[in-house]
Amino acid sequence: MNMLDQRLNDSRKAPQDQPGLRNVMNRVEAEITVQVDGLRREFDSKEGKVVALDGVNLQVRKGEIFGVLGPNGAGKTTMIRILSTLLLPTAGKAGVMGFDVEKEPEKIRAVINMASGAERAGYDFISARGNLWFFSQLYGIPTEEAHRRINALSDMLGLQSYLDRKFYALSTGYKQRVTLVRAFINDPKVVFLDEPTIGLDVMTALSIREYILKQAREHGRTILLATHNMAEVDAICNRVAIIDKGKILACDTPAALKRSLGAPSLVLEVSPIPAPGSLEPIGKLEGVKGFTSSVDEERGLSRIQVVVDGDGSAQSVVDSIRKLGMTVVSNWRQQATLEEVFVALVGRGFREREHEAA
Ligand SMILES: Nc1ncnc2c1ncn2[C@@H]1O[C@H](COP(=O)(O)OP(=O)(O)OP(=O)(O)O)[C@@H](O)[C@H]1O
Ligand SMILES: [Mg+2]
Repeated sequence: MNMLDQRLNDSRKAPQDQPGLRNVMNRVEAEITVQVDGLRREFDSKEGKVVALDGVNLQVRKGEIFGVLGPNGAGKTTMIRILSTLLLPTAGKAGVMGFDVEKEPEKIRAVINMASGAERAGYDFISARGNLWFFSQLYGIPTEEAHRRINALSDMLGLQSYLDRKFYALSTGYKQRVTLVRAFINDPKVVFLDEPTIGLDVMTALSIREYILKQAREHGRTILLATHNMAEVDAICNRVAIIDKGKILACDTPAALKRSLGAPSLVLEVSPIPAPGSLEPIGKLEGVKGFTSSVDEERGLSRIQVVVDGDGSAQSVVDSIRKLGMTVVSNWRQQATLEEVFVALVGRGFREREHEAA
């Protein structure tokens, strides 16, 4: 038997008969740090049962920054709370570093950390450094090592010269930096971040994103990042799952998702500002996958982004807008963003989804 035949023959054997292949497979399996299968979570509310997660499947690999992108109420926080063992699933399975959230929560807690942009919690009358030291002690980190980590992480975030200020005296952006140092203080393998830059100015958001990138690239940590910020996903996520109403609609790299749209989208500025709901006919036109609109009060016009199948649909959109009694002030084609990916999947944008839910 020549070498090629031998290899072909080997490849047909079960992995247990091939020590080499088994090692490779173990390594491939070890690369999966977060595994979610058929995850479901229901809540009882006054209006009845709410299904926050409705059969979610996903796999996150070691060292990946994995985005979970969706509008308000999509189920992002619920997923993070389950994965960080703060909430139990109603059905389905979720595991982190090979441990099951229901059966081995304490093993998961030892290797993860989490932070939420909505919290920014700390003890007001203790310094930032004191707060971080306190959290380090919850993990039993020796004092010297704790201070070394606090300094190194704070350096990365430009927090160093604020460490001795009382927590209450820090601005929102610096409070959030403290939260983000805390999220990495225990040298975690997997970190869950829920809207880490929400409500922050552009520069602060940028430095936080750079820090998250470094944590993944230089330390091989896995980051699962829930956000409704498409630019954030574009900037730092290797892959993204788009979630809406508890279901994952698509999962891929941001670039592949955008490529999948094919044609660039159509942007039209129209006046006068259309009455709520009056644009609905656009969504029903042939060749239109969906649209989203926003109002520019200052300029007295509305901007409509339409995701179309091909070039042919543009004219029918323009005609339809004229028929609705509006004037097209300007229009152009725009390379697809993740916003348009969502519009193509759902028919409407984040804004409309969030209004529906409110
Ligand atoms: N404790 C709870 N009791 C009742 N309903 C809940 C509870 N927690 C979440 N929900 C509901 O579950 C759904 C998903 O909520 P979740 O907070 O996970 O969404 P989200 O994607 O994080 O939204 P946001 O972008 O607003 O943070 C929503 O309909 C929400 O109202
Ligand atoms: Mg949330």
